[in-house]
Amino acid sequence: MKIFLKSLLVFILSRSFAQAVSSNGSLNETELDCQVRALTFRYSQFLQPWRSDLDPLWQTVYDALELDRLCHISFPEIKLQPKFAKAETQQQRKRETPCATAHCIFVDPIAKNDNLASLDGSMTRPYATLAHALRAARVIDRMHQTTIVLRQGVHALEDTIYLGQKDSGLRIQGYPKENVWISGAVTLPSDLSWQPWHHDPHVYWANLTTLLQGRSLPHLPSLFTSDARYVRARYPNGNPETAQWGYSSPDRYKYSLKADDVLEWHRPPPGEIPTFTVVNFKTDPPPGTAMKNDSTHFNVYSTGEGGACSAVWGNAPNYWCSNASSGGWAELERECAVTGQIQIPNGLTYNETSTIGQKLNSYLRNNSEPSLAVGGIIHAWHSQSWAMHMFEIEQHDANASLYFTPGSGSQGARNWCRCDQCGYAAHWCGQYQDPPWNDTRLISGTWMLENVLPELDFPGEYYWDPVQQLLYVYPNSTDTWDDLHFAVLENLVVVDGAISITLQDIGFRHSAATYMSREWSPPSGGDWSMHRGGAVWIRNSENITIDSCLFTRLDGTGIFLSNYTRYISIQHSEFAWMGETAIATLGQTDGYNATRQQFPLATRIEGNVMRELGIYQKQSSAVGHTLAANSVIQNNIIFNTARAGINFNEFMGGGDAVLRNVLWNTCRESGDHGPINSWDRQQYWYGSESWQQQRRKIAFNLIVANYGASEGVDNDDGSSWYHVAHNVFHQAEGFKMDYGGHDSIFEKNTVIAYPHKRPRGSGPKCVAFDSFLPGHGHIVRDNICIVPNQGPEQALVQLAECSNFHGILQRNTYYTPSGQAYLKCNWDSNEAAISLDEASLRFGIEAESTVHKTPLIEEIVALIIATLFPSHPNDADNIDMIFHSGATAME
Ligand SMILES: *[C@@H]1O[C@H](CO)[C@@H](O)[C@H](O)[C@H]1NC(C)=O
Ligand SMILES: *[C@@H]1O[C@H](CO)[C@@H](O)[C@H](O)[C@H]1NC(C)=O
Ligand SMILES: *[C@@H]1O[C@H](CO)[C@@H](O)[C@H](O)[C@H]1NC(C)=O
Ligand SMILES: *[C@@H]1O[C@H](CO)[C@@H](O)[C@H](O)[C@H]1NC(C)=O
Ligand SMILES: *[C@@H]1O[C@H](CO)[C@@H](O)[C@H](O)[C@H]1NC(C)=O
Ligand SMILES: *[C@@H]1O[C@H](CO)[C@@H](O)[C@H](O)[C@H]1NC(C)=O
Ligand SMILES: *[C@@H]1O[C@H](CO)[C@@H](O)[C@H](O)[C@H]1NC(C)=O
Ligand SMILES: *[C@@H]1O[C@H](CO)[C@@H](O)[C@H](O)[C@H]1NC(C)=O
Ligand SMILES: *[C@@H]1O[C@H](CO)[C@@H](O)[C@H](O)[C@H]1NC(C)=O
Repeated sequence: MKIFLKSLLVFILSRSFAQAVSSNGSLNETELDCQVRALTFRYSQFLQPWRSDLDPLWQTVYDALELDRLCHISFPEIKLQPKFAKAETQQQRKRETPCATAHCIFVDPIAKNDNLASLDGSMTRPYATLAHALRAARVIDRMHQTTIVLRQGVHALEDTIYLGQKDSGLRIQGYPKENVWISGAVTLPSDLSWQPWHHDPHVYWANLTTLLQGRSLPHLPSLFTSDARYVRARYPNGNPETAQWGYSSPDRYKYSLKADDVLEWHRPPPGEIPTFTVVNFKTDPPPGTAMKNDSTHFNVYSTGEGGACSAVWGNAPNYWCSNASSGGWAELERECAVTGQIQIPNGLTYNETSTIGQKLNSYLRNNSEPSLAVGGIIHAWHSQSWAMHMFEIEQHDANASLYFTPGSGSQGARNWCRCDQCGYAAHWCGQYQDPPWNDTRLISGTWMLENVLPELDFPGEYYWDPVQQLLYVYPNSTDTWDDLHFAVLENLVVVDGAISITLQDIGFRHSAATYMSREWSPPSGGDWSMHRGGAVWIRNSENITIDSCLFTRLDGTGIFLSNYTRYISIQHSEFAWMGETAIATLGQTDGYNATRQQFPLATRIEGNVMRELGIYQKQSSAVGHTLAANSVIQNNIIFNTARAGINFNEFMGGGDAVLRNVLWNTCRESGDHGPINSWDRQQYWYGSESWQQQRRKIAFNLIVANYGASEGVDNDDGSSWYHVAHNVFHQAEGFKMDYGGHDSIFEKNTVIAYPHKRPRGSGPKCVAFDSFLPGHGHIVRDNICIVPNQGPEQALVQLAECSNFHGILQRNTYYTPSGQAYLKCNWDSNEAAISLDEASLRFGIEAESTVHKTPLIEEIVALIIATLFPSHPNDADNIDMIFHSGATAME
């Protein structure tokens, strides 16, 4: 690895730094940004050395880092030469022999043999379907000695493949060097009879009734070509793969509609008040459990069940329907819960003179026929861009009103805000009008309409009429007629109750969308609402390995780990163009009681590439970690995500390790979030007091917190027991604690902050902490925080209080243009900031910390490299960080 490091340094230092410092002494931010981007590319190559330098992935990484456009660094210039990458190429990694077990069963999707009886699954007489091979495998007395080998082509599944206890020991793998796909779509036959649509000669329709006979159809079938996604007819037009319409996306009004085109989102009538459960671990711990009193906010397990909440999120116990939820904006949720007044709309009234209003009016027909808007789907952002909510239109009347199907909008866990509840309320809210008036209307973000036939007006769009089973297509070009895939399966492979199954060298594609499923509900104290299911859905199983697989153009989640799982390994795989999350976990507890450990434990997510995620549900991630523990997430390359790259929905047991990942271009469409994000609002009990103390480690990650991201690691509401060390956070705020987080360690990180570049304008702090309870403060030591160019002068350390701080800030190094850094003791007041020396003298805060003038770019680059590759590997905690969880040892 020394060779690698040397080449890394040689490259960086060979760039001219002549432009690094301008005549007025300020640092060239573009040059620094480009140096970090170049490092990000090299670190990605370092983390996945088994990939050949010829792997097309590197070009994708290069493009996503915009090294050409922003930095004029050419691809050959940045790419490591083969001698620096490990010798093993992707091709070599693919199995040389198709089958190394005692029994081998071959499946060839193209093989045509009318005489089924003559097939025996041999190489020369392969079965035609995976289902057939599976039936054969089950009758072989195999003692874990069977491999099903899939030959080149598309294995279009007739139905979901279920692997259970009787399949334990099975391997399913792609034939070496062949392109093998498992698909959830029906390939439309080339002789399908397409008719021109009388309304528009560009559009054709086909009757799929016969083709789909005997199949159960999903809520929302999807249409694909081999390498593109057809778009459900929508307004405004836009390809959801690329048309970003998040809160800070420059083109959002091109691809979506303004919030104020809706005059009013209808609040549902007040319902029954849910049944509340509150278990207070501080005042009234359950029998046999220890008291938990370390957080200022979150020492409680609380839920609401039934009542008004069940109309949207079903009957599962729901944190946000409790009367004791806490944290940012929780007062709003509590008000909804205790009044039974849910704030997820059940309809809307639109402005009839707006463009969308006129369009919607034109969909109305005479009394006997329903409006063409019926069956349409509205996608609307939560007003703080925390989630996408989808609503199905059930009814449309002439009073400019749409009424949603009951249960719509459950895809996010949080209620919407009313005009009079939120300080950030839109300019059209009543309190800003003259004269002001009290305004209880709900606020959305931007929104759009899809799945309506009259909007089938653009190449690449389609519309599915589920009643008559007619598919309408506006083709991109005529040459795609024999390459249309109608996705009808939400789950492709379900592993349930099995031990030791391997899926290797297989591509998975074309699952149906799941965002209109009726089963979305909030599983814990995070902001996420979830639906169980994925292209590969693993539950109640052990030792399942997914290796070198490709998950692409799947409209739901890629891999879903549900309830009890152990030792699930997902490695060397790629996830791209996914409707929701790449890998999601979701365990199950008995209320606060997690002693049965019915959740994913010891999951390994290693060496994967995860990109272009959250095409439909923006509240999604590369890794969505909910009710799981002891996971290792390492050596992954994560970029181009709608929201967080990695999201921890709650703490739950801990002992996870997030090591040596690179993340950039996360939070591209959402805000108030980080590339790695966490909440810890709901408390669980594990039957073992020590477990809670197993820290979640985040180390040696290189994170560019660009787009809407705030901190590199956004330890939001309640997040506690983190150990964040040896990370590099670029364009990030440093370390924050709000609402009752505690007992974390933040050390030896390098943060590069740009005060004047934040979208929210508040400017980053190096440290920002609310109050701690005695003995439970965070420890922040030996970090470097660099502010290359300061915007408005501000305190880089902001605390709620200094005299009763209860935390430790020491030996940190600050770099600012002036060589001065300030600390504020009461962040809400106008009190003047004080110098670090004064803070140290008066409060013992920032003892031994130093402030220097912003260094030269080459010095910053050296600090970054030293952070990721510490020169003293004997340092006990580094060794622990690098080796404890089996992370790849440095050579
Ligand atoms: C210093 O010069 C740079 C580059 O010319 C310019 O962008 C920046 O605004 C200047 N800063 C000040 C404080 O004048
Ligand atoms: C800053 O660096 C960029 C990239 O190296 C360079 O193109 C640009 O000319 C520099 N700007 C100044 C003001 O020196
Ligand atoms: C579609 O095909 C089915 C089965 O052949 C037939 O019953 C139905 O009338 C057809 N629908 C249309 C609109 O042609
Ligand atoms: C349609 O064509 C555009 C432009 O070539 C392309 O970006 C898109 O992926 C195509 N869509 C489909 C469904 O083929
Ligand atoms: C409705 O839309 C029209 C056209 O955009 C606009 O002029 C008018 O102010 C809107 N009305 C309301 C009540 O927002
Ligand atoms: C508006 O709400 C405030 C607070 O609830 C109340 O005091 C006030 O009377 C209300 N004003 C109007 C015009 O209803
Ligand atoms: C499952 O994996 C674990 C960890 O690698 C190992 O200890 C255990 O023996 C494996 N169990 C089986 C049945 O293979
Ligand atoms: C997961 O566990 C819960 C509670 O035991 C159960 O209701 C649910 O059906 C399980 N789901 C699966 C997919 O096994
Ligand atoms: C928690 O669940 C376990 C297993 O079901 C049970 O034995 C135990 O009594 C429960 N403990 C508490 C405190 O609820």
